[in-house]
Amino acid sequence: MVHLQICQGTTCYVMGAAQLASLATTLPDDLRGRVRVTGCRCLGLCRDGAFGGAPYVTLDGEPLACATTESVLAALRARLA
Ligand code: FES
Repeated sequence: MVHLQICQGTTCYVMGAAQLASLATTLPDDLRGRVRVTGCRCLGLCRDGAFGGAPYVTLDGEPLACATTESVLAALRARLA
C-alpha cells in the first residue's frame, strides 16, 4: 500500500492540485486498493521560492514536484512494480 498525499495548500491548489484530488475516486483498476489517497495542508515545499514546483504530492513521504495526473500515476506504478 502506497500513501499518496496531495497537498491542498493554496499554492498547490491553484497550480493544479484541485484536479489531482479526483484521484481519490478515479484510480485506475490496477492501482485501486493499493494506494491510500489523502489530502493535506501545505507541505512546506512551496516556500523559499519553490512555488514553481507546485503542485506537490508525496508518495510514502517522498515529494514529487510539478505533479500531474499522468506523472503521479507513473510514479505510483513505478513504486508498486
Ligand atoms: S501549498 Fe503545497 S507545498 Fe505549500
